[in-house]
Amino acid sequence: RTVYLNGQYLPENEATVSIFDRGFLMADGVYEVTSVLDGKLIDFDGHAVRLERSLRELDMVNPISKEDLLEVHRELVRANGIEEGMVYLQITRGAPGDRDFVFPDPEETEPTIVLFTQNKPGLADSPAAKKGMKVISIEDIRWGRRDIKTVQLLYPSMGKMMAKKSGADDAWMIEDGFVTEGTSNNAYIVKGNKIITRALSNDILHGITRAAVLRFAQEAQMEVEERNFTIDEAKEADEAFITSASTFVMPVVEIDGVALGEGVPGRVAPRLREIYLEESL
Ligand code: PDD
Repeated sequence: RTVYLNGQYLPENEATVSIFDRGFLMADGVYEVTSVLDGKLIDFDGHAVRLERSLRELDMVNPISKEDLLEVHRELVRANGIEEGMVYLQITRGAPGDRDFVFPDPEETEPTIVLFTQNKPGLADSPAAKKGMKVISIEDIRWGRRDIKTVQLLYPSMGKMMAKKSGADDAWMIEDGFVTEGTSNNAYIVKGNKIITRALSNDILHGITRAAVLRFAQEAQMEVEERNFTIDEAKEADEAFITSASTFVMPVVEIDGVALGEGVPGRVAPRLREIYLEESL
């Protein structure tokens, strides 16, 4: 695989980063995942805008223009022959000479920028989308700035492991009784013709797929309500689903062992997936 590191295209085994990198020592960095379908980048602009925002919120310097970033994405997709898959991008605050809680002077320490691709054939035509997924609920004990897409992913990883151990696919996180989001996706329930999802705040990531799906839903005359919902309300919903760049729209058919409706994907989530894939290509 060809990867990109600080201005260079390299074979993956030649791309190395300092042990003093603050991404490695302190999870001091941000990332984006952009999906690729038919060799084309999906929603690149949205991801680039959110990246800018994440960097700004952490007082990090953006080392690359949007135009150059697009060029690097395209070049990696081309070089690695990606038809379906994703491009991962990470920017950390770089590698000062020592470990220190204080941010290094941006004049002296350059950010580290890494991009690589992952090939995922069958991403659009996923069997999981036809079957639907099972989720469990866990307490949301992450920090309070989940709107910033940082690389602090230990708790989401643990949540995913808890789900796997109990025979489920993912975990929905709960704070003060209300669902925040999935470990790496936004969460929705459907009641009748109404799609309900938590409103944007610092409590959740402002999903790029979320924005697109809500827009498509409204264009298709579906009703959208942005408000908090509890896990109990979710268990009584007609349908549920998640969205993210790596799953698009994926139906949820079971929550904490409780089947939703008939326990198979309903009407709204598969329709939204279809619309999303059609509109994105
Ligand atoms: N995750 N919420 C969280 C906590 C996420 O990590 C993600 C994305 C989303 C959905 O955002 P978007 O639609 O922009 O992908 C919501 C990526 C895919 C990941 O970590 O792999």
